[in-house]
Amino acid sequence: FSTGSLTGRTLLITAGPTREAIDPVRYLSNHSSGKMGFALAEAAVEAGARVILVSGPVNLATPAHVERLDVVSAQQMAAAVDSRIGEADIFIATAAVADYRPRQVPAEKIKKDQPQLTLELEKNPDILAGVKQQHPGVFCVGFAAETTDLERYARAKLDDKRLEMVVANLVGSATPETEGTFGSETNVLQVFWPGGETHLPLAPKGQLARQLIPVIVSRYEQRDMT
Ligand code: C5P
Repeated sequence: FSTGSLTGRTLLITAGPTREAIDPVRYLSNHSSGKMGFALAEAAVEAGARVILVSGPVNLATPAHVERLDVVSAQQMAAAVDSRIGEADIFIATAAVADYRPRQVPAEKIKKDQPQLTLELEKNPDILAGVKQQHPGVFCVGFAAETTDLERYARAKLDDKRLEMVVANLVGSATPETEGTFGSETNVLQVFWPGGETHLPLAPKGQLARQLIPVIVSRYEQRDMT
């Protein structure tokens, strides 16, 4: 049994993509692999935390000593988070939650007999914003995956959702070193909090997770003093 900087703390972490049903055989989703969230879960256990991991559909093994709840859709992820957030000291939202879901899901497979098909989409709940609104005492860390203007969007997210920290990374082929962040083994992170920031250069996601946990712990320990 390990003792570390997070001994006695419970972390709730979301990871992976969500899938939003279009019909019984099709869905909308994204390229999130879940690797960053799973790496953070593992690093948090190493630091002594109790970890609850709410995961969308991914092909990853559950890290040792992590309690994993599997979900498919954003609404299921929101319900799972809601059911366990009361236990959490720290919430880390790494999941790439689908922003929209098809408004109506027919019971039968959609046939290709129309020359055009329009899908009507409805906004999904913002899980992270909801947690911060309903549980303001929970230390909330958001992730921001952007293709441009990283700092501006990350700082806006910090303010809009009133988060304690935002971890940002450029996705897509914005720069050669960040190409393929979704699904890749490596990442570059820029971490922002009110009044400060730090840069974690290109490294494997497991190594970045072990560097990010102490940054989170340090801000968490200072939360009531600022
Ligand atoms: O506003 P944006 O979606 O870019 O914010 C990203 C952050 O919010 C991530 O931490 C993500 O896990 C979280 N999020 C969420 N629920 C959503 C959308 C985003 O928890 N529906």
